[in-house]
Amino acid sequence: MSNNQQPSSTIYKENVDHEYDGDIVLKTEHLTKVFDSLAGKITALSDINLEIKKGEFVSIMGPSGCGKSTLLNIIGALDKPTFGKVFINGFDIFTLTDSEIATMRNRLIGFVFQSYNLVNRSTVIKNVKLPAIIAGMSQSEADFRAMKILQALGIADKAKQKTINLSGGQQQRVAIARCLVNNPAIILADEPTGNLDTKTGADIFDMLKILSQKFGRTVLMVTHNPELAESTNRTIMMRDGKIEKETVN
Ligand SMILES: Nc1ncnc2c1ncn2[C@@H]1O[C@H](COP(=O)(O)OP(=O)(O)O)[C@@H](O)[C@H]1O
Ligand SMILES: [Mg+2]
Repeated sequence: MSNNQQPSSTIYKENVDHEYDGDIVLKTEHLTKVFDSLAGKITALSDINLEIKKGEFVSIMGPSGCGKSTLLNIIGALDKPTFGKVFINGFDIFTLTDSEIATMRNRLIGFVFQSYNLVNRSTVIKNVKLPAIIAGMSQSEADFRAMKILQALGIADKAKQKTINLSGGQQQRVAIARCLVNNPAIILADEPTGNLDTKTGADIFDMLKILSQKFGRTVLMVTHNPELAESTNRTIMMRDGKIEKETVN
């Protein structure tokens, strides 16, 4: 690809400036991950090829251990593939240096985990604005953006509270607010409702759905709940590190 001739930082800068106006936000090519463990080699992902369009809400299902988290972690550059490529906004992310990858992740990827991963001794607003501060935004602008998002998600009244004092559902709302603060290209949610009761889980799911339908966000979500999966645009079924089938819902 001609891109390879340019210094990666240049290409990267163009990408974080959100100049990309293509249709495909995420593409993987022959994505493969082999873990070396005491028990030998484990092929967690084997030749995963997928494309996700801007604004799509895609769910991933499959039995425990089939590679769902590994797939999300590699797409979000928390881990590297053994083989294959990940393109975000048309850009081959693993051509970046490690520090560029960290910056890219902060700007372009919104992660939501089952376990919220908030800074518990910090306040809601500080958690939400942290990725914006890391990205170089001023405190006042980050405060403004974080408050706007908290208002939109219905938890502005919790802004000054420590996250540890919130319910699970409220903490997951904070995590979603945090993942939105840098206006990411894609939201990766790994069993975001997995620790929540049915009603609260449904609320969190509805929030992701609204983000997709009303605000054009691109969301890739792992879930064990077939009803939630059916309510997304498309479901990818995985088994043994492979895509078994895809269903348009
Ligand atoms: N860091 C790791 N080291 C070794 N094996 C791993 C590691 N992470 C995941 N695996 C293995 O890779 C496979 C896929 O795991 P994972 O992606 O977590 O599955 P899922 O999220 O679908 O439950 C499993 O066999 C798991 O044990
Ligand atoms: Mg998992």
